[in-house]
Amino acid sequence: MKAAAKNRWIGFEKGNKELVLRKVEDAKDELQAQLKMLENGEVCVEGVHDLKRRKLVTKEKSIWYSLQKGPEFVTKRKILATDVTREHLKSGDWKDLEFKDYNYGAHGQPIAIGYVHSLLEVREAIQNILLEMGFSEMPTNMFVESSFWNFDALFQPQQHPARDSHDTFFLRAPATTTQLPDDYLEKVKQVHQSGGYGSKGYGYDWKRDEAEKNLLRTHTTAVSTRMLYKLAQEKPFAPKRYYSIDRVFRNEAVDRTHLAEFHHIEGLICDYGLTLGDLIGVLEDFFSRLGMSKLRFKPAYNPYTEPSMEVFSYHEGLKKWVEIGNSGMFRPEMLLPMGLPEGVNVIAWGLSLERPTMILYGIDNIRDLFGPKVDFNLIKNSPICRLGL
Ligand code: PHE
Repeated sequence: MKAAAKNRWIGFEKGNKELVLRKVEDAKDELQAQLKMLENGEVCVEGVHDLKRRKLVTKEKSIWYSLQKGPEFVTKRKILATDVTREHLKSGDWKDLEFKDYNYGAHGQPIAIGYVHSLLEVREAIQNILLEMGFSEMPTNMFVESSFWNFDALFQPQQHPARDSHDTFFLRAPATTTQLPDDYLEKVKQVHQSGGYGSKGYGYDWKRDEAEKNLLRTHTTAVSTRMLYKLAQEKPFAPKRYYSIDRVFRNEAVDRTHLAEFHHIEGLICDYGLTLGDLIGVLEDFFSRLGMSKLRFKPAYNPYTEPSMEVFSYHEGLKKWVEIGNSGMFRPEMLLPMGLPEGVNVIAWGLSLERPTMILYGIDNIRDLFGPKVDFNLIKNSPICRLGL
């Protein structure tokens, strides 16, 4: 009835929708004709929309392909020759061989060469930065150190938890060292026991046995300490900038971010009248050359530095502040017993080599980078390292 009304075949009396009025003499039903056309497979364009709306027809889509044999049609694939072999030459069938086209765009075989480990790449880049900043390298060839140079000379008390075998690897053989400078050792003992140089000391009974214990160095600050002691013996005093990058060892539970063996980068400046401002300045200079120019400093504690600061950098990729190093000014209790002149300060900082390497290369598991489970593909495929902006 709706369609009939739309076609104006019928109408309704005003005010009375019940009464249907005939409007035409003869109604021509096009709908029927259209449906008939469709049924006969003829194409009917007009009015289809209307038919669809009234759910009298539905739309279906069919795709036909027409296939023909091409010029190279075969039922068995022909294998094209890529090489003339000895057999081809012997049988003489090389004359009839059909060769595969040469592909000039193909990649060559990867060449089996050595690859520089990512840690070495970053180490070299950092080394170059430190050299540019006027630092010279300290000799780091002693993995085995005595507790004396690793802890005592750094004013680290003998009961300190880091000196526990849970944190440090001690040596069984040779378990102890016999080579310690006696005069200096005596001064270190005094400053631990009763202080001096304006310090109260720790007030405990310092034991030489404890200082003689051999260990795998837990930080390269042991190297810095030896160098500062050596420097203190040279008269007159000359200011120095030293750095080192080498292996350290800790008795750690191994996980995604910790290994028992890793690398430390350490820098120090030794001169008259240095301040915390100098340390902040040098850290900003150093880290900005590594491409980290947004830094924050947080007060921290080390037995051998006062004040001490942890260094944080804003990581643009991770969108957060990450800890990148530790720093401070060596305490007078450490420097004065060595014989460095009054008024000489040492500003120093340390960080691991693994941390910035993992950040730079986006590696989230330290075991892929270093150690027995190292991922060779990661090393083969890692791009050349360029630090800075
Ligand atoms: N030795 C510190 C460490 O193990 C690093 C450090 C070096 C801190 C020098 C202060 C000064 O992380």
